[in-house]
Amino acid sequence: AEGTLADIVSHAKEYGFVFPSSEIYDGLAAVYDYGPMGVELKNNLKQLWWRAMTQLNQNVVGIDAAIFMHPLTWKASGHIDGFSDPMIDNLDSKKRYRADVLLEDKAAEYEKSGELARAETLLAEMGRLLTAEDLAGVKQLIIDEKITCPVSKTGNWTDVRQFNLMFSTQIGAVAGDSSQIYLRPETAQGIFVNFLNVQKSARQKVPFGIAQIGKAFRNEIVARQFIFRMREFEQMEMQFFVRPGTEGEWYTQWKETRRRWHEALGLPADKLRFHDHEKLAHYAKAAVDIEYEFPFGFKEIEGIHSRSDFDLTQHQTLSRKKQNYFDNDLNPETGKPYGNYVPYVVETSVGADRLFLATLCQAFQEETIVEGEGEEQKTKTRKLLRLHPAVAPVKAAIFPLVKKDGLPEKANEIYNSLRHDFRLVVEEKDSIGTRYTRQDLIGTPFCIAVDHQTLEDNTVTVRHRDSREQTRMPISELRAYIGEAVSF
Ligand code: GAP
Repeated sequence: AEGTLADIVSHAKEYGFVFPSSEIYDGLAAVYDYGPMGVELKNNLKQLWWRAMTQLNQNVVGIDAAIFMHPLTWKASGHIDGFSDPMIDNLDSKKRYRADVLLEDKAAEYEKSGELARAETLLAEMGRLLTAEDLAGVKQLIIDEKITCPVSKTGNWTDVRQFNLMFSTQIGAVAGDSSQIYLRPETAQGIFVNFLNVQKSARQKVPFGIAQIGKAFRNEIVARQFIFRMREFEQMEMQFFVRPGTEGEWYTQWKETRRRWHEALGLPADKLRFHDHEKLAHYAKAAVDIEYEFPFGFKEIEGIHSRSDFDLTQHQTLSRKKQNYFDNDLNPETGKPYGNYVPYVVETSVGADRLFLATLCQAFQEETIVEGEGEEQKTKTRKLLRLHPAVAPVKAAIFPLVKKDGLPEKANEIYNSLRHDFRLVVEEKDSIGTRYTRQDLIGTPFCIAVDHQTLEDNTVTVRHRDSREQTRMPISELRAYIGEAVSF
């Protein structure tokens, strides 16, 4: 059986994947800390993404830009004027909501009860009103749909206002407007402002991409669904700079490439879908989400956006620095070089935390197993994480069968011979069954048992997490065996 979100949240906390931030002070809404297992899993996901971008594509290079940026960046990008969500308060409960989320939830209710047309009409109407920035109309729709506050069950709503999602702070010692800066709400802008620096220093020719992994911050109005919607999170973004007119092909290509990547990592095809945006972000000409079916429904994990030359042109205007690229390639129609232009951009943007949550939800399983034979036979349930070995926090656990006869020493010898290649643990405490259980819970693909026979012939028993099958093999084969399994 698969887990509910509550199962995932408690599993994540109990086994050191994710903790609420500053929990001893009762936490901070929508902010989370990654524990010893969580940080390994997240780092693995980030490394695999980084490799898929920069190592597998000679024309994609990386950067690591600062979180703080010149305040004009956000004027240029449109975030100061346009990066807001429609907010509404309920007067009885004094709870704050996103108006669009209330309407989306209502549409989801219709969908659940089979009223698909009604759901679609509602979403279309909402999209129309939001695009027209008709906030009074949005409020009227909430009233017409008889939407009540989820907490107080009343429909006593304030007007809808736009709420900017950027966090601001002061830079330097002098207060005042000129020193106000923002925590970046997306990593993408650090890439755009470095477009020419990277293109020139890395001697790249269009089409080429710039990849980046880093923190982003959004003052989300509602915090819910665990690490799905956070106020501090991490993005893995890649801006692909292309010749105007070719963006459509690249958009299609990156859409497919990214979907295949998620599948290869273990998100099954039937739990992934594309969702085209009805309402486009202020920068986008076309946008599609890759959605994963979480326990709370299909939700976005990655966005692919065709951003045209919007960002570079905006930066060109506000910085008064040309963002042109000279394309030497010959245009077959004119026989002359394509010449100067501001490149178009196709962006892939995935949240590391959302990918982490999807991975955890997909891996978590509770299954009934039969143990022993004949009279001794009993059934029990086991919880496990069926993580792809490439992302598992620990690749193998080494267990000396007993704490004597030189077995712990032998286990440590194996550990020392492999620790430069894989993250391993040696566990001596408790029965072997208990030790298997502990490793299943954190998703360790292999457990290596060291017994008396090991001392005689240098073989060990390798137990497989998913099948619980055991294979006897020489110690000398472990490196290649584990290496093969954890490669991606
Ligand atoms: N540069 C484009 C951009 O930022 P986005 O759709 O707003 O586009 C991209 O965000 C991805 O970042 C999302 O698909 C999601 O995975 C992640 N993300 C966005 N807001 C988030 C939040 N509040 N908490 C966690 N992840 C978030």
